[in-house]
Amino acid sequence: QTNQPHTNQTLYRATFMHTPASPFETPDALQVQEDGGLLVAGGVIQASGPFSELRAGHPGAEVSDLRGGLLLPGFIDTHVHYPQGRVIGGLGMPLLEWLDRNALPEEVRLADPDYARAVAQEFTRSLLQNGTTTALVFGSHFAPAVDTLFAEAERSGLRAVAGLVVSDRLLRPELHTTPQRAYEESRALIERWHGVGRQLYAVTPRFSLSASEGMLDACAALMREFQGLRFTSHINENVAEIGVVQGLFPQARDYLDTYERAGLVTRRSVLAHNVHPNDRELGAMAAHGCSAAHCPCSNSALGSGFFPLKRHLQAGVHVSLGTDVGGGTGFSMLKEGLQAYFMQQLQGEQGVSLTPAHLLYLATHAGAQALNLAHLTGDFSVGKFFDAVLIDPAPQTALRAVYAAADSPARLLAATFASGTPGDVARVWAGGDTAYQARRDLAAIHP
Ligand code: GUN
Ligand code: ZN
Repeated sequence: QTNQPHTNQTLYRATFMHTPASPFETPDALQVQEDGGLLVAGGVIQASGPFSELRAGHPGAEVSDLRGGLLLPGFIDTHVHYPQGRVIGGLGMPLLEWLDRNALPEEVRLADPDYARAVAQEFTRSLLQNGTTTALVFGSHFAPAVDTLFAEAERSGLRAVAGLVVSDRLLRPELHTTPQRAYEESRALIERWHGVGRQLYAVTPRFSLSASEGMLDACAALMREFQGLRFTSHINENVAEIGVVQGLFPQARDYLDTYERAGLVTRRSVLAHNVHPNDRELGAMAAHGCSAAHCPCSNSALGSGFFPLKRHLQAGVHVSLGTDVGGGTGFSMLKEGLQAYFMQQLQGEQGVSLTPAHLLYLATHAGAQALNLAHLTGDFSVGKFFDAVLIDPAPQTALRAVYAAADSPARLLAATFASGTPGDVARVWAGGDTAYQARRDLAAIHP
């Protein structure tokens, strides 16, 4: 149930973990509370600490006992495509061929409002089932489909930061628009949804390959005219793509410059992928405070390459995590964290050795930071919304056995990233309301 006023206090009793600071900057960033308490009222965290202390201090609060599981902040997916849920698994193609053959034909189907509604419902459900409570969503090229996305997100509890995807070349005619029309349709959606409930608007040219200078200027006009908009697009994903962009923008110094010249690289910008940046681009991203959304499953599936995390960190570029469905392989931020870990391990000296604390940070607080939402979500600090996911493996599963045997909370977190799946997500809260609850009434049968 969403949108119900909370008059009562609820005291959640659970082992919880969160990263109020960045483990890339602070050694002891992972905070662990065994048998902890989180006091929630009005959807907002009022107090946190050991359960016994909170119980004594708030005897009137209703206790919700979540022991046996692991309570984490709701995940924040900073790059995921709404129209691509049904084309997950188009493997074996590099980016441009994959767009042509796999993604774009499906994206055309969202011109049909009924089709778009069904896809929007599947999409919001899939995110919540995986524990994602905030997402920076690449919308559709069709304004009615984006309107439907916002409506479904608001109904479900999902905080969507999303917008109309705009392009005026090199995709296919059904997906093209003009800068003028893009501006007008975007403006109408901004006026209808930006700041409504949990929803925010992100100006979204698909990528420089499909957006003329005129289109990028229309995007910049929107960013100037409305307060608090976010900006997102793709950058430096694939070597062939970068070559085409260079040819289309002969005056630009590099891929970033195509956005930078239009004034689109700011603290409010999140650029997805950045697998092949040069040093100038990294320096400029850091100087502008723009974030990179790392999508390791997609980078693997499309063979885009190894994300240079160490170079991003050395340059001071903020990095968050995204699933990039459907270039990515699913909606699980646990899987995304594990794949990020794998790909850093495989880079040897060039890689960053990621701990479970890093993975949790990348899947939660780092995303809030990238979206300028860290005052509202991303960890369990007092004053933030209770956006949370309870990992509680079902009986007789492999992860349940690990949970039962784990001798330290750090071990729990590591095992959760190593082998957690959506099946282990027991319950999800968005702004204090239950947005998803797993059915656990079907007992497994083992002869
Ligand atoms: N670049 C432009 N469009 C897309 C897309 O849909 N997916 C990915 N991974 N990269 C893109
Ligand atoms: Zn993408």
